[in-house]
Amino acid sequence: MIELLVKVGNKRRWFTASWLKGSTVYAIDQRLLPFRFKIVALKTHYETAEAIKNMTIRGAGSIGAVAAFACAQAVLECKSSEWPKKALLGFERIANTRPTARDLFFAIERIKQSIANKKLGEAKKAALKEAKKISKEYQENGKLIGMFGAKLIKDGCKILTHCNAGWLALHDWGSALAPIYFAKRLHKKVFVFVDETRPRLQGAKLTAWELANENIEHAIIADNSAGFYMQKSEVDLCIVGADRIASNGDVANKIGTYEKAVLAKENGIPFYVAAPLSTFDFKCKSGKHIPIEERAEEEVLFVLGYEKDLRKVRIAPKKSKAKNPAFDVTPAKYIKGIITEHGIIKPKRSTIKKLAKKSKKVRK
Ligand code: MRU
Repeated sequence: MIELLVKVGNKRRWFTASWLKGSTVYAIDQRLLPFRFKIVALKTHYETAEAIKNMTIRGAGSIGAVAAFACAQAVLECKSSEWPKKALLGFERIANTRPTARDLFFAIERIKQSIANKKLGEAKKAALKEAKKISKEYQENGKLIGMFGAKLIKDGCKILTHCNAGWLALHDWGSALAPIYFAKRLHKKVFVFVDETRPRLQGAKLTAWELANENIEHAIIADNSAGFYMQKSEVDLCIVGADRIASNGDVANKIGTYEKAVLAKENGIPFYVAAPLSTFDFKCKSGKHIPIEERAEEEVLFVLGYEKDLRKVRIAPKKSKAKNPAFDVTPAKYIKGIITEHGIIKPKRSTIKKLAKKSKKVRK
């Protein structure tokens, strides 16, 4: 685990994006970065589910890790007379927070399996143990993705990334940013084009904050300027994260990913997706079947910025409406490879089928 070195006030301290202590979930409030660094303490599964929904915690892997913690809280909160009904209602509440990130459902299924047919006392111990195991796996998988992905990065490489698929989004190390962090540790020089990622600006706010903390050279670019730099041969490689990967290799990721992949293909630039096995939906036939979250129109109509204090300002006429799909699907044909904790694979049905078998074995 890398535990990002974060400057808080005048001190530098090591942090992971979220953790469980006793029955309380602690997490960095990602809505306030890069302007404020605040740790939230979430005492019940209700609070933790709400924190996933309102994006205090976000990014597929972090959602998965925190969903596991939330499920453990739901079990811990049960009295004998309420077992298992109340816990299962809690799981349902957690499942209803964000529909696209596969990791959310992966974590809930894992906790469910760990408590199956157990009495309450045993189930409490088992849920806690499993939640901590899931959290550790994210940390280890991020590191492995970093190791495999770093092989794609040559010294002096210029990489384009979209949204935030870093240390904040995968609980530790990251998915798309992990190869960049690893390459840096191998003393390779890298430069990162950071798509600002409208409407919530996860690139400009979170990826840029992470890269600055790691002293990695980067520039934030407006979402619509990626093609400009690709056409001028200034981008060598694209790496993005994923929220759900279908069994044919289609990938759902932050809105805007699809157009970057098409542009990369047009300009002969390799386009890679980085994600752990927990993001694969082995039962989902193709991208067409991935549920896409539609978020509030106010995320498009307003921006949250900083001028002496945090301010939310309207940027469109009062009468205007907006549409706000949070993710899009990139067809497999635009993706050169998927960087996983088991190596880099082709986004093909046959390869993903083999991976599905591996994922069952790993957990046995
Ligand atoms: O809506 P968000 O901020 O949760 O979306 C995040 C992304 O789209 C990331 O690219 C994705 O979750 C991969 S990060 C592990």
